[in-house]
Amino acid sequence: MVKVKFLGHAAFLIEGSKRILIDPFLTGNPAAATKPEELDADLILVTHAHGDHIGDAAAIARRTGAKIVAMYDIANYLVESEQGITTIGMNYGPTEVDGVKIVQVPAWHSSSDGKYSIGSACGYIIELDGVRIYHAGDTYVFRDMELFAELYGPIDVALLPIGGHFTMGVKEAAKAVEFLKPKKVVPMHYNTWPPIAADPEEFMRLVGDKAEVVILEPGETLEL
Ligand code: NI
Ligand code: MN
Repeated sequence: MVKVKFLGHAAFLIEGSKRILIDPFLTGNPAAATKPEELDADLILVTHAHGDHIGDAAAIARRTGAKIVAMYDIANYLVESEQGITTIGMNYGPTEVDGVKIVQVPAWHSSSDGKYSIGSACGYIIELDGVRIYHAGDTYVFRDMELFAELYGPIDVALLPIGGHFTMGVKEAAKAVEFLKPKKVVPMHYNTWPPIAADPEEFMRLVGDKAEVVILEPGETLEL
């Protein structure tokens, strides 16, 4: 069984034969379900360098020995700015890390320390214990999302931002569901702060019967 635990905002812990943290922004996250000190992981995937995604990645990696997977430039930035961490820099395309198949895929978004660009934004398709999970990162919708299931097989669960302002809103995310054809969708990146207020029930209505929308509160887990 693979467990997908929503930690708030865009942070997830995926637990199966490996523990994979994605975008562990907890310190300063008003929606955080846990403290970074309480998390353990084998891998930490970072979608881009914005603070609400890179978050506590380095601190958790330093304490637990988890490897950080990130775009090459972001991995180099972390190695230069942080001590005692191990990174795996990659770029859009497939790889395998410790038995976990990972595809880094494009995301339509910026990536910076808030001012200066660092690498590019991405999403991840992760295959763990036969379960395929897509974390979109921060992105606008794009038709090439159709390629993901075509190339890598059906997506069991898609984690999609719906908050608007910085990413897709509910309308764009519902269109993304058409392209991705996932079995389940978990909305994320909304209601953390007022600019990204969104109604997940409205998203559910727009998706209709195209996928099962699972609304997780921070701290809740979806079992696959
Ligand atoms: Ni961002
Ligand atoms: Mn963000």
